[in-house]
Amino acid sequence: MVSLYHISDIHVSSKYFQPELMEQLISEVNQVRPDLLVLSGDLTDRGLGFEYQEAKRWTDRFEVPMLVTPGNHDSRNVGYVHFEDLYGSRYRIVRLPGVHIVAADSSEPDLDEGRIGRSIYPWLHEALDAAGEGDLKVFVTHHHLLPVPGAGRERNILQDAGDLLKVLVDHGVELVLNGHKHVPWVWRFENMLIVNAGTATTSRLRGKGKPSYAVIDLDREAITVRHKYYDGSEDILHHPLERRTPA
Ligand SMILES: [Fe+2]
Ligand SMILES: [Fe+2]
Repeated sequence: MVSLYHISDIHVSSKYFQPELMEQLISEVNQVRPDLLVLSGDLTDRGLGFEYQEAKRWTDRFEVPMLVTPGNHDSRNVGYVHFEDLYGSRYRIVRLPGVHIVAADSSEPDLDEGRIGRSIYPWLHEALDAAGEGDLKVFVTHHHLLPVPGAGRERNILQDAGDLLKVLVDHGVELVLNGHKHVPWVWRFENMLIVNAGTATTSRLRGKGKPSYAVIDLDREAITVRHKYYDGSEDILHHPLERRTPA
């Protein structure tokens, strides 16, 4: 089994950032030691250099492997150059035993709207094709692919969400990890779970929402997603996977 922590929208330098939640999260992650921590964007508020330095000081304290992708806030003010300096490529492949993870930047400089973009699709096909036989496939990007309930007026859904969903379904991707809306949610779509992580460490919430993060266990039979809140409560979804017969 592979265990992931999926956190998003930490917005370290915004006035909504709650350092005590970050402290709690760091100590939990370092105690649980998941195989990978996925941070699906919006590390900063305006993509400024000093904000990235602050984000890096926090994220360096996680003592587990990390996969980080930028969000729309991180690409403001040409912030993606700091992202690349501190966190590496905005397009990544991570391999864990039996799990193949592909992450792509969906942000556009100085825009809140997101898209993967036509020029990236050849890479995406190749990256997903590189999965080993029988691997579970996971795709990570900041913007959401489907509308999220309780998130107010719909906006900023990936501009090429339809094309991307088709690619992910055609490649048999089982799990998609998004952020952006600050609302935790899970949709089942075909044989795929689409997980929206809430905001992990801010009070920038909608309605009576609470800061949260997702703990995800993956094996060949099922994916279990827990949206965890800092008061100890959690929402759990168990998703049995369809067994595919080999061609
Ligand atoms: Fe955000
Ligand atoms: Fe965002």
